[in-house]
Amino acid sequence: MRVIAIANQKGGCGKTTTSVNLSACLTEKKQKVLLIDIDPQGHSTLAYNISQRDFQASIYDLFCPDEGKSISIKDTIIKISDYLDLIPSEVILSAVEQKLSGKEQREYKLRSGLAELNNSYDFVILDCPPNIGLLTFNAFLASTEVIIPIDISYFALHGLGKLLETLHIIRKKCDHHLVINALAANYDKRIRLSEEILNIIKKQFHSHFFSSVIHTNVKLKEAVSFGKPITEYNTHCSGYHDYLALSEQVIKGSYLQKQKVDRKICLPQKVDGGVLFSYFSPEALSVCITGDFNEWSSNAEPLFNLSGNGLWQKFIPLPPGQYQYKYVVDGDWHLDPANPKTISGPLGKNSLFKY
Ligand SMILES: Nc1ncnc2c1ncn2[C@@H]1O[C@H](COP(=O)(O)OP(=O)(O)OP(=O)(O)O)[C@@H](O)[C@H]1O
Ligand SMILES: [Mg+2]
Repeated sequence: MRVIAIANQKGGCGKTTTSVNLSACLTEKKQKVLLIDIDPQGHSTLAYNISQRDFQASIYDLFCPDEGKSISIKDTIIKISDYLDLIPSEVILSAVEQKLSGKEQREYKLRSGLAELNNSYDFVILDCPPNIGLLTFNAFLASTEVIIPIDISYFALHGLGKLLETLHIIRKKCDHHLVINALAANYDKRIRLSEEILNIIKKQFHSHFFSSVIHTNVKLKEAVSFGKPITEYNTHCSGYHDYLALSEQVIKGSYLQKQKVDRKICLPQKVDGGVLFSYFSPEALSVCITGDFNEWSSNAEPLFNLSGNGLWQKFIPLPPGQYQYKYVVDGDWHLDPANPKTISGPLGKNSLFKY
């Protein structure tokens, strides 16, 4: 049973659209799917035209059962079709954080609930709320994969550092393996600069970026207002084909294979339009790069450890030239251990890179 959290604290970037339509396309490929709405806004629930009248129990009851009662996750499941089940959400879910405050194991409620399902699904898809609170934490600790939908705009990467840092802390502190993949979820190629921004984001996430991009398609918007996934609303549009292609990539899951880190690729690499910086450290909690290209700021450019194998990377758009830099590992400044070239500066030695 693969459990995938669809998360990004940025609002309106396509989490629900992806949760609903990826789930629906997976079922077309005969995968048994459980879609769990863990957003108090309940948009995935609405996307299947389900309202509070239609259910006795929701995901809220799993987190906060009535006093003296215990509830099985199975009591919250609604059957949608042969291959798809849904656990609905309701607005009271927003009270969970306060109700569980100070309670032990509160971050593991969803994971314990899913354990009761005995792997009876191929996929569990978690539609997360637009913040990193207790509900999203529960989702991360219950999943082995995270898909981050990104709407391709200037602000797309804003706040992403915080999300990736949280995921990394979960890996380290909770000893929980998570593979992170980004998805361009609302890509409008008619908008000026969108191709350029897409290319930067692709380079930033390199092998952790789904090659199946989801283009802006009004049918995806319409489908929601009809309370249907795209598979039932219109199968002749790009929205359907894009999500079908994504579902194939997800089923294949080639990105899940742990890549062995080749020390040679830890040297800065020239990539079209800039440089890919890499630092290997399975132990570090945070790695940033500082250099003459960012005024030696110590936290301006966080590197990301996307597959959890200790390889931290960051693409920085830079014109050809000679650059001095250092890595900031958990707050301490280090020379690049993979790069023998150094240069003396007023504050000591720096690593040197020319391209
Ligand atoms: N590829 C797309 N083409 C057209 N419209 C889209 C696309 N993806 C998302 N949308 C629209 O953008 C809006 C926000 O999408 P969605 O609800 O999926 O985002 P979200 O991240 O779940 O939002 P929230 O953070 O509020 O939960 C919706 O109106 C949705 O229909
Ligand atoms: Mg949503």
